[in-house]
Amino acid sequence: MKFDAVEIEKFRARTPKSLELWQLTKEVVPTGHAGGMGAFVPHPIVLERGAGSRVWDVDGNEYLDLRLGDWVLIHGHSHPAIADAVDAQMRRLVQVGAPEWDLGYRFSKLLVDRTPSLDKVRLFASGTDANLAAIRLARGFTGRTKIAKARGSYHGTADMLIVGNSILRAPDDLVPLGVSPHAIDEVVQFPFNDPDGFEAAIIAAKDDIAVVLIEPVMTAMAMVEARVEFLQRVREVTSRYGIVLLFDEVVTYPLAYGGAQAHYGVTPDLTTFGKAIGGGLPVSAVGGRADIMDLLEADAHGGVAPMSIMSTFGGNSAVAAAGIAALEALTPEAHARLTALGDRARAGIDELGRRYAVDLHATGVGHLIGLHWAPDRVVDFETRLKDDREKVLNINLVLCNEGIYQTFTGLFLTSTAITDSDVDFFLDTLDKALHTLGYVG
Ligand SMILES: Cc1ncc(COP(=O)(O)O)c(C=O)c1O
Repeated sequence: MKFDAVEIEKFRARTPKSLELWQLTKEVVPTGHAGGMGAFVPHPIVLERGAGSRVWDVDGNEYLDLRLGDWVLIHGHSHPAIADAVDAQMRRLVQVGAPEWDLGYRFSKLLVDRTPSLDKVRLFASGTDANLAAIRLARGFTGRTKIAKARGSYHGTADMLIVGNSILRAPDDLVPLGVSPHAIDEVVQFPFNDPDGFEAAIIAAKDDIAVVLIEPVMTAMAMVEARVEFLQRVREVTSRYGIVLLFDEVVTYPLAYGGAQAHYGVTPDLTTFGKAIGGGLPVSAVGGRADIMDLLEADAHGGVAPMSIMSTFGGNSAVAAAGIAALEALTPEAHARLTALGDRARAGIDELGRRYAVDLHATGVGHLIGLHWAPDRVVDFETRLKDDREKVLNINLVLCNEGIYQTFTGLFLTSTAITDSDVDFFLDTLDKALHTLGYVG
């Protein structure tokens, strides 16, 4: 992909110290990011401080943050209640390899009380952990092995989660280097937002499928929201064939009070959580129907649990304290604000597309915003492949040069720390970017 010559020079001139420190880090850390997140520009911006809706890089540039620590910081940076809760807990009790009173209970209860499908919940450390645990539960419950997931989905980095078509690699690279070739044999892929295509893919392997794993909004693929009829059919077909329906709400949970499942009115059997629920610290969770979750409960099975899944850091006390503070601040009013800001941004993007009669348009729902330059509205893997990624990259480069921090892939999130005027700043800058790059007359 080619960068706009003027904008890339501007980027380099603004961020020399980022380049220097990134190169230093790369001497000991492949990619230069300890977590391995990719950079889509010649070098990443190296950040050193955040407060509320803003972050600052090592060159002293200030940015409006629409990336939120890779979709984690739903309340922005350094939220006082979260910081105080962690600080107090660090001085009291951080980690115990035993039940502790009362953070694990309160955190789990908050998830159970507000999420329609949850009777019980268990805590883990990452989204990948949570999805693997949920799949193991589904396999134990059904006695079947295969998992079904949407083409283009991202559910974590484990072998069976990462095989198949992905927007993050070449479309035909089904088994990335280092992944067991057997992993693909355990996976059935289905088309997103296509009820008949979904049903046909499931019926073809119905006796082998333990679980349908689905994100109600395909976030990494570009914030592509499910149509409600699609999710309803997914629920109906999985129930019909005794397949566990697992919603991956690792990213989507802040979409509404009770998560995407509350927004869509579709109730899965199991749900996984991560990212925002920890208030910035690493935690994830699996929750769902008591009869499935109780495979982990000895008392429900005459003293010996059929399954055991352990996590050293699941239920870490400092993390639970942060999570409680984050969830308590996610009131129904906070969700309504996140959505109103998201609606305003999406409507603004669509309006620019219409005003200039170009292929620019928005996807997403709630706090999730996708920006696309594609001939047809993006609704699935195939339409997403037609996105003009070079245009989207260069638009994001201009946004960055003008003070908006994001992933460079056209994906943005609102947080409770941003305001209407921040959204206006985003839209005005986008308008300016279209002219700067000569994409509109
Ligand atoms: C929808 C979804 N599920 C699961 C994961 C995996 O989470 P983690 O990186 O914490 O393992 C991600 C990560 O981006 C994700 O976007």
